[in-house]
Amino acid sequence: MDESRRATLIEAAGRWGTPLYVTDLDAAVANAQAWRDALPGALVAYAVKANPDPALLRRLADEGFGFEVVGPVELSLARRAGATSDRIVVNGVGAGDAHLADALAGGALVNAESLSALDALLLAGKGRIGLRLNPSIAAATHPHLATGAAASKFGIALDELPEAVHRLARAGRAPASLGAHIGSDIHDAGPFGGLAELLAGLAAKSDVAQIDLGGGYAGPLDAWVDAVAPHIPETERLVVEPGRSIVADAGWLLTRVVRVQARGHLIADAGMTELVRPMLYGATHPVELLEPGAGLPRGEAWTLSGPICEAGDILARNLDLGPTAGEGALLAIGQAGAYGAAMASNYNGRLRPAQAVIEGGEVRLSRRRETLEDLTARDLTEG
Ligand SMILES: Cc1ncc(COP(=O)(O)O)c(C=O)c1O
Repeated sequence: MDESRRATLIEAAGRWGTPLYVTDLDAAVANAQAWRDALPGALVAYAVKANPDPALLRRLADEGFGFEVVGPVELSLARRAGATSDRIVVNGVGAGDAHLADALAGGALVNAESLSALDALLLAGKGRIGLRLNPSIAAATHPHLATGAAASKFGIALDELPEAVHRLARAGRAPASLGAHIGSDIHDAGPFGGLAELLAGLAAKSDVAQIDLGGGYAGPLDAWVDAVAPHIPETERLVVEPGRSIVADAGWLLTRVVRVQARGHLIADAGMTELVRPMLYGATHPVELLEPGAGLPRGEAWTLSGPICEAGDILARNLDLGPTAGEGALLAIGQAGAYGAAMASNYNGRLRPAQAVIEGGEVRLSRRRETLEDLTARDLTEG
């Protein structure tokens, strides 16, 4: 990390305390712009679930990007950020009838993930109904992140597709889009080529113009384009739903070391309640020392553990942050912009962390730290 970034992160931790998420909006926009440059005319719909920071959503909406949303709350967040309906894509394997109808009436592209959801959409009236398929593609990633495998709950099965198209045709309609999302944190572009080939063939049979290749890619963009382009050269037909590739490397979780267990644990003031990915998916994140703390007893490989009452509350392993990473040290956990703040929880009475954003070199708070009052606001019993 360069000196000015380091100084900005230290400033942010000093002003708003730790644990603190910081997202660089300019970096996120540059990542989104890379998708747009690679796919002229395509709809680049940022997956809100990756990081719904309000300042990030607002900036992406201002820059003309679209949004992929799940559920009525994400739909409202995208609308509040200023997204126009023609740039909103709605997914959700458990989407209820009322939400589907509202999204459809509002003008979003709404993907049916089951025949039953399709029926609900057809009953709801006019609008753009897409079909999200289960493409039976098992990409190499953590099993919890593999959504395209045949056995997963997501999408209309390939052998149900003729019936789906038939139901639309009976209502005098056609699919507005065919799509799939094969998973997350997929570093190999190959499965996206396979998906493009499959969807292009199916779209040709049913005369569907728009093809939605979902999100999930975590490798270099040119490899993805090389894999997809032979099957779908007309980039303006495409919808993509990237989340992680837009925000992961644009975000940091700042945390301070609170205690040291000489047997090898640095206990931080952030843990699985702030960043659950290491525990949930075995994800690894780089950790850097921003400000020194007390001296550390000799020890080779430290484990960065959180304060939560769970033995699995571990953020990183085998760390060597030097001899001054003891109590008080300020650490930056990198690659934390996606599925970090978004998955924070209140377990162990934790108040969800504040979120700051960097824009044009300036850092500001975009979401304050949760308070005890926020936490108890829903309680119907005193005390
Ligand atoms: C339907 C859908 N689209 C897009 C994404 C974004 O995936 P990623 O953040 O890995 O790009 C997800 C994430 O799980 C998803 O479920």
